Amino acid sequence: MDNTHHTIIKIEGLKKDYVLDGDRKAPVLLGIDLEINARDFTIIYGPSGCGKSTLLHTIIGLETPTSGRVVIRETDIYKLKEEDRSVFRAQKFGMVYQTPYWIKSLSVWENVAMPLLIAGEKESSAKRQAMKVLGQVEMAKYAKKKPMQLSGGEQQKVGLARALINNPWIIVADEPTGNLDTHSSDEVMKMFQALNTDHERTIVMVTHNLIYLPMANKQIAMRDGLVVSLDAAGVKEAIKQELQGVL
Ligand SMILES: Nc1ncnc2c1ncn2[C@@H]1O[C@H](COP(=O)(O)OP(=O)(O)OP(=O)(O)O)[C@@H](O)[C@H]1O
Ligand SMILES: [Mg+2]
Repeated sequence: MDNTHHTIIKIEGLKKDYVLDGDRKAPVLLGIDLEINARDFTIIYGPSGCGKSTLLHTIIGLETPTSGRVVIRETDIYKLKEEDRSVFRAQKFGMVYQTPYWIKSLSVWENVAMPLLIAGEKESSAKRQAMKVLGQVEMAKYAKKKPMQLSGGEQQKVGLARALINNPWIIVADEPTGNLDTHSSDEVMKMFQALNTDHERTIVMVTHNLIYLPMANKQIAMRDGLVVSLDAAGVKEAIKQELQGVL
């Protein structure tokens, strides 16, 4: 089946309140409707605290909404039992965070292969698959090193390889360049872009760095728990504001 441009993430009326002490509630997501297509490279941005990470967590099934639905292809994920949702998340999503965590005593390829090894895959097969995804992010030459011997940018690319190892439907990244210098950030972003264009990966990324907005084909602005989709002019205006902040 050709899944090009088919909806892969559908969010309807999504609301999330955090319950504080006693009965006090803090509304974080105020009613979000959103559709993301297979093979989209989506960037979500907005000021600190507007709910970006919370939105990502609800998309991957980690944060049960107060109301509304999250449908991944055909699956209404919060209708699944919690255990089934965990399995769904592990199979369908690859996650990249600001700082990758490593089993420091293991090599790069072993860290990448870990999800397969845990699932009981034979070492030879797990290694072959790890080398393949490391190749996709141009990190195969570091396979035998320890992750901590690599630069931040290199580690983030290895983290991306690990996110790919299960051949997930969707790569979800929460500020993956947040801890990197400009050069490394650019390198990592180019890698995400290549995975999207050359390998047709669906990517949903949160970033603070508006310079990268044009690399995505879908830009989503968030303000105070709500989503505002942007047209090309909106993207330009956002970048202009960002540059004014820097200069
Ligand atoms: N577990 C929680 N309990 C209560 N409030 C929370 C919880 N997690 C997040 N919040 C609040 O929800 C709001 C949105 O948080 P979120 O982490 O989604 O923001 P964000 O847009 O990712 O911000 P940043 O850019 O700083 O990462 C914030 O006001 C935060 O304090
Ligand atoms: Mg966040």
